[in-house]
Amino acid sequence: MSQTDSLNLQPVNRGDASSPLVLLGVTGCIAAYKSCEILRGLQKAGVRVKVVMTKNACEFVGPTTFRALTHEPVAIDTFGDGPGDPIHHVSLAEECDLFLIAPCTANVLAKMAAGIADDLLSTTALACTAPIAVAPAMNVHMYEAVATQSNMRTLAARGVHFIEPGEGYLACGDVGRGRLADPADIVSYALEMLKSERDLAGKRIVVTAGPTVEPIDAVRFISNPSTGKMGFAIAEAAARRGAQVTLVTGPVSLDDVAGAQMVRVGTACEMKAAVDEAFPSADIAIFSAAVSDFRPRVACDRKLKKGADDEALAHIDLVENPDILASCGASKRAGQVVVGFAAETNDVTGNARSKLVRKGADFIVANDVSCGRGFGADSDETSFVSASGEEHLPEMGKRQLADRILDKALEFLK
Ligand code: CTP
Repeated sequence: MSQTDSLNLQPVNRGDASSPLVLLGVTGCIAAYKSCEILRGLQKAGVRVKVVMTKNACEFVGPTTFRALTHEPVAIDTFGDGPGDPIHHVSLAEECDLFLIAPCTANVLAKMAAGIADDLLSTTALACTAPIAVAPAMNVHMYEAVATQSNMRTLAARGVHFIEPGEGYLACGDVGRGRLADPADIVSYALEMLKSERDLAGKRIVVTAGPTVEPIDAVRFISNPSTGKMGFAIAEAAARRGAQVTLVTGPVSLDDVAGAQMVRVGTACEMKAAVDEAFPSADIAIFSAAVSDFRPRVACDRKLKKGADDEALAHIDLVENPDILASCGASKRAGQVVVGFAAETNDVTGNARSKLVRKGADFIVANDVSCGRGFGADSDETSFVSASGEEHLPEMGKRQLADRILDKALEFLK
């Protein structure tokens, strides 16, 4: 009899790449067997589940059980042979929509509160930017200990959600608070959290990203050093929040965004054609691409040679590229939200305000790229400039900024 047979399991929907993903953290506690029930409850609701467990948790439930239930590798070792991913804690933390740790021991709570990352589960918790929910389970005295209560307050103040333990007979024989909350209640809580995080469900979003590349000849081109990180972060956040995303990107070295329709283009004209196709049915369009303003009038299909082609190399005749944002801003129908970017070195808000009007955007994400800031950075200090004024945002990572941009676009959509 396999371990799954012994649990008398019915076939369930394990979710697919477009399903919300819950990372279920299992820690070393007698209630660890209840994680199987939580996992099944989530799967029945169409949620995809991956499991990360501590070594102590393996003393209570074998990883094979979770592997059988999820059909996914179970993550335990930081340095072990993961599924081909050397920085497993980062990828697990990045891909999940919710990190649910149930049951969570006093020890893991303490590590999270202190920022200790000494195994895969705690490292993943530290690296996780998705919402975290914790269902503590422990002996009543450990639960009531000043240290544990203080750790929980610290974590709650940082935005960690708690699914409070119940009262009753505990495995150790004591009576009191510390029993893992009912698995059905944990599942409902997690589903509620996912629902509120999927506020873009049913919305279509087009995002442009990266540079465009305008060929001069077979080996030379006009371009810029845009990395595409901002646009990819927006597409990732929008997909995570349930939107149907089309990401039109120039050449960048970033992997496809899971769940987004990827359109990889080269030139501004190709980018415009792809956007023209997606824009009419879009609710929100966000233009973060660094589009080359001009392109060579003719692109020679062979390599131009020094000497023989000096004239063609020294005098490249340029023509203006279409302004993709401006054309969408001019044609947008009521109810569509158009967002532009303005990377400026001087008079940042003045320039952003003039772009807002000139390009027909609802708001502009303006940032100061003087003093070497800008291209390739992982964080930005920006302002939202709209007809109603200017809102300054403190410096933040591109992922966080992506969510703020989407929040702002949603305000305009309502
Ligand atoms: N943009 C676009 N198509 C273009 C040029 C720009 O869609 N051909 C969009 C960018 O994606 C960005 C915004 O317009 O959202 C502003 O881009 P930027 O390069 O700052 O503006 P320009 O119009 O090129 O103005 P300038 O170079 O004078 O700053």
